Amino acid sequence: MASKLRFVCNVCGYESGKWYGRCPSCSNWNTFAQFKVEDKKRTSYAHSDEVAISLEKAYHIKTSSNSRVSTGFEEFDRVLGGGVVLGSVILLSGDPGIGKSTILLQLALNVSNMASRKVLYITGEESSDQVKMRIERLINVKDLEKRNLFIISATNIDQVLEVLSKEKPTLVIIDSVQTMESKEFPGFPGSIPQIRNATSSFVSFAKKNQIPVFLVGHVTKEGIVAGPMLLSHMVDAVLYLEGEKLSETRILRAFKNRFGDATEVGIFIMKEKGLLEIKDASSYFMDKKNEKVPGSCIAVVMEGTRPMMVEVQALVVPSGLSFPRRVVNGISEKRVELLLAVIQKHVKIPVDRADVFVNVVGGMKILENASDLAVCLAVVSSFKNKPLGSTAAVSEIGLLGELRNVSNLEKRMSEARKFGFKNVLTFKDFKFLNEVIPFIPI
Ligand code: TYD
Ligand code: MG
Repeated sequence: MASKLRFVCNVCGYESGKWYGRCPSCSNWNTFAQFKVEDKKRTSYAHSDEVAISLEKAYHIKTSSNSRVSTGFEEFDRVLGGGVVLGSVILLSGDPGIGKSTILLQLALNVSNMASRKVLYITGEESSDQVKMRIERLINVKDLEKRNLFIISATNIDQVLEVLSKEKPTLVIIDSVQTMESKEFPGFPGSIPQIRNATSSFVSFAKKNQIPVFLVGHVTKEGIVAGPMLLSHMVDAVLYLEGEKLSETRILRAFKNRFGDATEVGIFIMKEKGLLEIKDASSYFMDKKNEKVPGSCIAVVMEGTRPMMVEVQALVVPSGLSFPRRVVNGISEKRVELLLAVIQKHVKIPVDRADVFVNVVGGMKILENASDLAVCLAVVSSFKNKPLGSTAAVSEIGLLGELRNVSNLEKRMSEARKFGFKNVLTFKDFKFLNEVIPFIPI
């Protein structure tokens, strides 16, 4: 078989037929390493079983509606757009220790609960007995016997692919893509050329065999760009499991999804026996008892297509500091600073002389501005030391103190009504923030 030399940059993965002293892509010096490729082998996955291409009228192309496998988690399925598409490659990323291995093991246990379904979990990070110990936390051993789950502890990707091609499982989990290494490729495991090679090999395997593959990708020290994001164009979906380490809430978010809506989220909590899905998110992120406490207001935010009630808490206390403190959790700090300036100017409350703490309950992160009004009302309520009662608020706030339109108002209102909120303050009823203040019980 003919082989030829190729060169790859160890930093950015740029590949070329000739050697460069300085990488033309990332401009780093002396980063090129040489490797040999056998012409046929390199292309064997992508182009084997070549079929002549032909035109096909869009109307006549057949789609199969059964081409998804359920993960056994409603929350996970929704994020994927209704389950795992056969032959798709899904990258699951997130901080170390956040629960990636745990959630995928649970998924593996769910999927492998039928004799006709075989799941292969390839672990390059932990030994098989470590994985077994984790499984024992998640499920009792009697139930495990019925699961068709197989663990392989390996890092050699060429060996792994050989086993996968022979076994043809229903689902494959690779934990993690950073530990997979090909001896035919330069660079240490986790280096960009190795990660790229591993990903493209798994993509070819998945497409050729119509077997879905999950890849775990850690966020590296340099940030997400250096690791998993580099691969996002190669895979079908990029999911991110996020949450504060100290809180038990975990949010599964899609950043890219070729087979569904990339704005959907799944909500879980990390318990002793693994991750538990939260289907009724509103009651989890809101505590009705706090209605009687100053500084609490309910926002109705959209997470994907779902409205969700979230409690925003504020604590405003006189400050002795020349630069009063602003401590914000679960919402952009810059956004809160802007809202404080609006309160100062348009509601004439001297928050510039107060320390302000703002927190979103339950470790939830609010990413949209529809919660602006709730944040302002929570701050005003704490400042005045008067509770708001059963009040929910939905509106963006502009620099002029004006209440601005937000999307999906009807969906948000009906969620609020479902939870017994009669008093929902919105941009429909008020033009400016200072007009809202007389209507709240302070
Ligand atoms: P893990 O899945 O190993 O994280 P990752 O693969 O993203 O690095 O999660 C590890 C954390 O989860 C660890 O701090 C222990 C905790 N955990 C639980 O709280 N309950 C459980 O049932 C399991 C298995 C782990
Ligand atoms: Mg792990």
